[in-house]
Amino acid sequence: MTDEQDRVQPSGVWATAVGVARVRALETEREDPLFRDPLAQAFAATGGLWPSSPPLPDDEASRRRRLAVSFSIVIRTKFLDDLLQRASASGVRQVVLLGAGMDSRAFRMDWPEGTRLFEIDTAAPLDFKASVLRHERAVARCERITVATDLRENWPDALAAAGHDPAAPTVWIAEGLLIYLPEDAVELLLARISAQSTSGSWLGLTLGSRGVIERFGSDAVPGSAASMWVSEMPGDPVGWLAGHGWKADCHTLRERAAAYGRPISTPAQREEQPGGLIAAVRR
Ligand SMILES: C[S@@+](CC[C@H](N)C(=O)[O-])C[C@H]1O[C@@H](n2cnc3c(N)ncnc32)[C@H](O)[C@@H]1O
Repeated sequence: MTDEQDRVQPSGVWATAVGVARVRALETEREDPLFRDPLAQAFAATGGLWPSSPPLPDDEASRRRRLAVSFSIVIRTKFLDDLLQRASASGVRQVVLLGAGMDSRAFRMDWPEGTRLFEIDTAAPLDFKASVLRHERAVARCERITVATDLRENWPDALAAAGHDPAAPTVWIAEGLLIYLPEDAVELLLARISAQSTSGSWLGLTLGSRGVIERFGSDAVPGSAASMWVSEMPGDPVGWLAGHGWKADCHTLRERAAAYGRPISTPAQREEQPGGLIAAVRR
């Protein structure tokens, strides 16, 4: 059987990862991109979202919401690219992408010699990704290790079995993930990350802003990303992370967007801000 015949098509929560790839492919086509993701178009095309996506509701509110979510994906990608570069510059050589989806940082970023990058997601998206990567003959720029497991289960054992060393610092990324996990699962995930993080570790998180589920999810199209959102950021994210042993900085989309030369300008973006951006260091 060929790769194409074998390939599982995106469905459920992991289909959102292909939607994210479509946004990154669009950003890559801009003249002034905040990052370039040359593999994103292949992920989106293979998942049926490129060059166009299936018809979506075309009312003004739906279009504004899609624009706001796409904008937040671009800003958070740049934010976490920068965080990873800072962590690498500080000497961290282990990277763990939680809910990695179609993240192609192993292929598109420069990594210092000796970097090991672990991608955790469930088996279906990792299989889909592997078949696209094979087709594209993509070559990772660091040691890349995939770990197929559910983050609600005992993933630290699976990660350790794949070679992660908790005695060495790690930079953890949970990008566009926590909003899909119920609050108790988020709490357990953070406790487990913290237990595997020695001093000098880093953590990059994106969190759904307060009220985003009500504003975006209540009339979301069934099966769309927003229809699967279940948790928002705690009232005091810095205090929450301090309780788990992290010193965190909490950034807003507005402030980061301005810093990157993409200030929030349209009324849609002004009104609707999908999330908080967190950079934390292990104390
Ligand atoms: C919106 S996508 C973001 C993907 C990637 N972090 C990025 O920003 O490109 C969410 C990802 O989280 C993964 N995910 C959600 N719940 C998960 C779980 N319980 N265990 C493992 N992965 C999960 C999905 O499969 C999907 O790939």
